[in-house]
Amino acid sequence: MCGIVGYIGVKDARSIILEGLKALEYRGYDSSGLALLDKNEFKIYKDKGRIAHLCEITDYSFETHVGIGHTRWATHGMVNYDNSHPHISNNKRFILVHNGIIENYRKLKIDYLSDYNFYSETDSEVIVNLIEFYSKKMCTDSAIRKAMSKLEGSYALLIVDNENPDVIYCVKNKTPLILGMSNDGVTIASDIIAFPKDVNKYFIFEDQRIAIIKQNDVKIMDLMGFEIKPEFKDLKLDEYNISKGNYDHYMLKEIEEQPDVIRRIITKYFDDDNAVIDYKLIDAINNSDKINFVACGTSLYASFMGKYFFEKLCGIPTECFVASELVYSNPLMTKKPIFIFVSQSGETLDCITVMKKYKQQGFKIISITNSVESTMAHYSDFVLDICANTEISVASTKSYTASIAVMSILAKAVSNKKTNLKNNLNRVSQVIEDIIVDLKPLVKDMAKKIQNSKAIFYIGRGIDYWAGDEAALKLKEISYINTDSYSSGELKHGTIALIEDGTPVIAIITQEGTNSIIRSNLAEAEARGAKGYVISLESLAYSKDDIIIPNVAHYLTPMVSVVVCQMLAYYVALYKNNDIDKPKNLAKSVTVE
Ligand code: AGP
Repeated sequence: MCGIVGYIGVKDARSIILEGLKALEYRGYDSSGLALLDKNEFKIYKDKGRIAHLCEITDYSFETHVGIGHTRWATHGMVNYDNSHPHISNNKRFILVHNGIIENYRKLKIDYLSDYNFYSETDSEVIVNLIEFYSKKMCTDSAIRKAMSKLEGSYALLIVDNENPDVIYCVKNKTPLILGMSNDGVTIASDIIAFPKDVNKYFIFEDQRIAIIKQNDVKIMDLMGFEIKPEFKDLKLDEYNISKGNYDHYMLKEIEEQPDVIRRIITKYFDDDNAVIDYKLIDAINNSDKINFVACGTSLYASFMGKYFFEKLCGIPTECFVASELVYSNPLMTKKPIFIFVSQSGETLDCITVMKKYKQQGFKIISITNSVESTMAHYSDFVLDICANTEISVASTKSYTASIAVMSILAKAVSNKKTNLKNNLNRVSQVIEDIIVDLKPLVKDMAKKIQNSKAIFYIGRGIDYWAGDEAALKLKEISYINTDSYSSGELKHGTIALIEDGTPVIAIITQEGTNSIIRSNLAEAEARGAKGYVISLESLAYSKDDIIIPNVAHYLTPMVSVVVCQMLAYYVALYKNNDIDKPKNLAKSVTVE
């Protein structure tokens, strides 16, 4: 995934674009660049490395009011200068930034651009030269629409033309693109959080749209060139508060926001003790014969709890699918399944691809997401907001607990049973507050002990095993320590061979029925040299346990045990001086297959 920003107006385009790219850096940070209009010619500044480096190499000596910028998460081609965006066409007329993937770019090169020179390995450079190719036969917006008609894949494009420099052309298909209006200019970006503070209204591009943007005029067309009236919405940017405040990292800020997020969810979805969910959504689930969760990463691990809730509370058979596995496989479906996609960003391409496949087959689609204006939300029949506000750190934290909270409420609504869920969720938010303060010294101490490990294993059974999946992902993705999660009974079937003297094995114990067996499994590992640690619920704890968590409802324990593990991952990565919010090789939302 990448981030793109463009501005045209009376203000300084350079600062607006650079600030916008900083806000989008979470989407990818391998390289970055921008093109700025200097009188009648666009100047390009780009290189591998972070936005801070781009700020250093950009020329500040001229006034500029039009520009486009890009921050890249490498898909096609190495991380280097040539593959950085913007890309320029052979005749130096068109300049482009691109977010997405063009699947047929090699064929287009052969079919249309065999006499063109290419300086990068990117699919994006093919687009800008295809536009040049068609511009020799038609006007620019027709050339862009013609090029679009040849592209297969996902793309959000910003294009500028050295022969007509007072225009920014935008193109959108599958990857997000949002237009923001302020009194003195137009900003276009991958995400609202890239907008300058004075943007007061916005709209979200639909797929297969092209826009011609001038300082005081916005024209939107479909692929055929028919004009489309944009529906603007008012924007209150303070909702997108993305400052770190007094925190060193977004991750710690977002870990510590979790109690407020849960309370916000309770306020939104409860009226007294009744869950407030669209009755049509409840009917759709009750009319299904199976629930299929589809997600990736943290959202997939959260969906395991969704399965637990719907099977235990509603008696509905439920299965959790890895989205990328469903792209190319077609598991046996029941007659009336319903699909619930869980996604913080709502832009995960693996999920979008699967969503479109099953929507085309006529199945009902629900999205549980933190991005209610996202592509996935757009394709869904029903959308439930997890109300976590913007999550910047690449390592998801608050979206995990928020997704579980919303799924628990949805299951309660579908079951129509009287439960103590509202109080139990309130208790969880309180306990997380206690954990954040009271257990921090113990967590830091444990982090110091395990920070230099070669490998680390989380073990548990059932709910605790699923929480361990998320705990392991947190730890590995920011500490870079090879960390895995195992059902504690599975360890002896092979993995225990990996245990060496001092290998940390961390048991998560929150369920009464598996307390002693997990402890036995941990002892088996310790007998072979492992250094065992126990994270346990107070009511099940032994005095020697390393981290003891105050009690919460047994079916909500991952919402608290995972917070300990989020903090553990944070402090291990901190002690290792890793880039916590932007870990290597990762991006916040993965919009490639
Ligand atoms: C988790 O910390 C990672 N950021 C990653 O696994 C993420 O959960 C996954 O890419 C899914 O993202 P989504 O929730 O936005 O769909």
